[in-house]
Amino acid sequence: MSLKVEKLKVTIQKKEILHGINFEVKQGEFVSLLGPSGCGKTTLLKSIAGLVEVQEGEVWIQGEKATNILPEKRGTIIVFQDLRLFPNMTVEKNIAFPMEIAGVKKDERKKKVAELLAAVQLSGFEKRRIREMSGGQMQRVALARALAAKPKILLLDEPFSGLDEKLRLEMGELVRKLHETWKITTILVTHDKREALQMSDRIALMDSGRLIQYDTPKEMFYHPTSRMVAEYFGKVNVMKKEHDGRMIEGILRLFSVQIAKVEGKENKNDISIHAKVEEITFAGELAEVSLILEEPYFGRLELLSQVMSSKISELNLSGGMIVAIKINEKDIVWFESGEV
Ligand SMILES: Nc1ncnc2c1ncn2[C@@H]1O[C@H](COP(=O)(O)OP(=O)(O)OP(=O)(O)O)[C@@H](O)[C@H]1O
Ligand SMILES: [Mg+2]
Repeated sequence: MSLKVEKLKVTIQKKEILHGINFEVKQGEFVSLLGPSGCGKTTLLKSIAGLVEVQEGEVWIQGEKATNILPEKRGTIIVFQDLRLFPNMTVEKNIAFPMEIAGVKKDERKKKVAELLAAVQLSGFEKRRIREMSGGQMQRVALARALAAKPKILLLDEPFSGLDEKLRLEMGELVRKLHETWKITTILVTHDKREALQMSDRIALMDSGRLIQYDTPKEMFYHPTSRMVAEYFGKVNVMKKEHDGRMIEGILRLFSVQIAKVEGKENKNDISIHAKVEEITFAGELAEVSLILEEPYFGRLELLSQVMSSKISELNLSGGMIVAIKINEKDIVWFESGEV
């Protein structure tokens, strides 16, 4: 285990920000940390790195209790959103800085800087000053500098959020490549759910100072433990039913609501219901179809379905049309009502 956070509580200005977080990351694992603004992501990273005071609980790094170890001795590096580079210094000086502190010899530093610049695709930029570089280039330098410190744990606090979509994807790609090459245990804070689902070994989702689910991307998506988790990863249909005298709530992903012709073939495991097409909203390759159904199982229900646009023309779908809806019961995830 590379990192273990145990019952971590952090209070800032008399307000409890983290309410007892348990969290572990394996050696070489890539974890994305997600959650709404203000939920405590940066505070969690800072507690791991020793940059905030921890009131209760422990942080373990590679089996060693780190709670009382100074930040610079922990082997953790945070790359913040504002990067914190030295604007008037050259790229070389910025990257070499942690090595200088560690007492690495000049020749060795030069060699290492060239190697790191190649890794972040900035070969030849040694003498350029930071203030003469673009946002994306600065982020590459910040990454190179973080790697120069040879961290045991790399903590990336949304370092790419200021970039346009294309550059952000490129940086995501680069981070993934660097991770593959260097195998550094990495925690990436991001708002980009798609990126997190694509590139992480596991995803940690936080809300209001608590970790609400920590799982592989697939588990997170297909087996959310609460409605909040389900809704975080995309629009869902919400339904309610009575179960053992209690109301329970279910979610169904849009693409799990399949539309077929009324006389379509029926599978005995499917619930096939007739519904009226209310509205069709095109969004490029995909379209959302809102449906109204009235039947005894769910009662009157509005359902959203997501289908390929080509299917719309194939079925000749239009408002007011009656279609057959197929829902596989297995695709509905039920929760205790109120567990949001
Ligand atoms: N130095 C501080 N003084 C007072 N309150 C703070 C301080 N740092 C953080 N907080 C509060 O702690 C909570 C968590 O903040 P944190 O920065 O960890 O959130 P976050 O999840 O990183 O948010 P974002 O996605 O916006 O970066 C917020 O309510 C914030 O206002
Ligand atoms: Mg933050």
